[in-house]
Amino acid sequence: MDTRIVLLGAPGSGKGTQAKRLCGELGLTLISTGDLLRQAVRDNTPLGIEAHEYMEAGKLVPDKLVVGLIEEKLEDLKGGFLLDGFPRNLEQARMLDAITDIDIAVELDVDEDMIVDRIAKRRSCRQCGEVYHLIAKSTKESGICDKCGGELYQRSDDSEETVRKRLAVYHEETQPLIEFYKNRNILVKINGRDTIDEVYHRTIDAVQNFRN
Ligand code: AP5
Repeated sequence: MDTRIVLLGAPGSGKGTQAKRLCGELGLTLISTGDLLRQAVRDNTPLGIEAHEYMEAGKLVPDKLVVGLIEEKLEDLKGGFLLDGFPRNLEQARMLDAITDIDIAVELDVDEDMIVDRIAKRRSCRQCGEVYHLIAKSTKESGICDKCGGELYQRSDDSEETVRKRLAVYHEETQPLIEFYKNRNILVKINGRDTIDEVYHRTIDAVQNFRN
């Protein structure tokens, strides 16, 4: 079924981790604004150059830049999709409404102390972008990606100071979206505090029940 999903949750709540598995299982196209922006920064594109300073400061990249990205990705897309990290505020949600309909908004609910721990122990592959955690999802060889052998690194916006800023931005700008989608009766809240596998099974069950 061509389901259109929005995945919401605080920084480090596990959106990217769950998004990849859900899309693989449900045959959805994954669109992650964070990944697209990081790629643009690596490629030094005009978008990347403009977005970089906002990302480093833990702020949201201006709406017009991000909405342009989403429009481009959705333009010729056939079938269902999952948006990870978009929309991020009410303005983006309204802009999204003008582009497409959304069937389900999934919220990953996690405590703040867990977020800090997850982000501090996150490592990503420079080459393929795979995301690990020093304890919950460790690699066979320290510092080396299991999938492609690439070098692991810590995201520059994962410093304690920037994470605090990102959390404040989440509470102020993104959390109102929970109410926005709740009022449309399409919000599914998932307890994201357990293991990666437990959260995954809980989420896929909830999405499949919602669709039926
Ligand atoms: P983005 O990349 O979207 O960052 P985020 O929302 O802050 O989310 P994260 O990527 O930090 O975390 P996540 O929830 O994906 O968690 P993960 O699965 O990695 O955005 C980055 C920046 O780009 C923003 O600050 C902004 O500047 C800009 N941006 C992006 N979208 C934008 C938009 N729409 N508008 C404007 N600006 C935008 O998991 C975290 C760690 O925990 C990993 O190590 C993982 O292995 C581990 N983990 C996951 N689940 C579990 C579990 N259940 N148990 C134990 N460990 C777990």
